[in-house]
Amino acid sequence: MRFNLSDVLELIRSRRTLKPRAFSPRQIQRDQIEKMLEAANWAPSHGLTEPWRFKVYAGEPLRQLLFTWAEIYKNITPPEKFLPERYEDIRNRASQCTAAILTWMKRQDSEVIPEMEEYAACACAIQNIALVCTAYGISCFWSTGPVCYSRELHEYLGLGPKDKVVGLLYLGYPAGPWPEGRRSHWLNKTEWFGF
Ligand SMILES: Cc1cc2nc3c(=O)[nH]c(=O)nc-3n(C[C@H](O)[C@H](O)[C@H](O)COP(=O)(O)O)c2cc1C
Repeated sequence: MRFNLSDVLELIRSRRTLKPRAFSPRQIQRDQIEKMLEAANWAPSHGLTEPWRFKVYAGEPLRQLLFTWAEIYKNITPPEKFLPERYEDIRNRASQCTAAILTWMKRQDSEVIPEMEEYAACACAIQNIALVCTAYGISCFWSTGPVCYSRELHEYLGLGPKDKVVGLLYLGYPAGPWPEGRRSHWLNKTEWFGF
């Protein structure tokens, strides 16, 4: 064994999603984010395309991003489906969260590698970020939804036509105790052959 397996499993098991409303005001530091992104960069990718890209936000730029996110939500949602509390919730995150990482996928120019594999590589990168967060006692909330995939956000971020937003990662220390996770058993999702 090259690493302590029970520590590794415990880290993986402990990773937890908390919404910004459950964050404490404690600031996330730049050097912590640098470690997260270094870990992200060690994700696997088919053909070593390394498609993960990051835009890191704090302070006023984070407020601007979230206020824009809320406006896009308002603009793209049919009036009968628009929820004012959802709009306010997005804006309130600017005062609840001290740092966020927008993760996007830089599509390979030649498109030789299937797009879903480049998305998968970005998901691996996000998992690496989330595990480093867990080691710090930070929760990483991977947020998506219609705004995330909207043309409006895509244009606001200045992404290329084939690129994709993968998610906005809200980072924060829990205001309360570290939450427990919940999963159905892995054995129920597994078939064995030849064992
Ligand atoms: C691709 C992806 C997209 C997600 N998008 C959202 C989201 O938009 N809103 C949300 O509340 N949670 C989102 N989540 C987080 C899940 O809600 C969360 O992982 C799940 O509830 C399990 O909780 P845990 O991460 O604490 O184990 C997303 C997770 C993944 C992998």
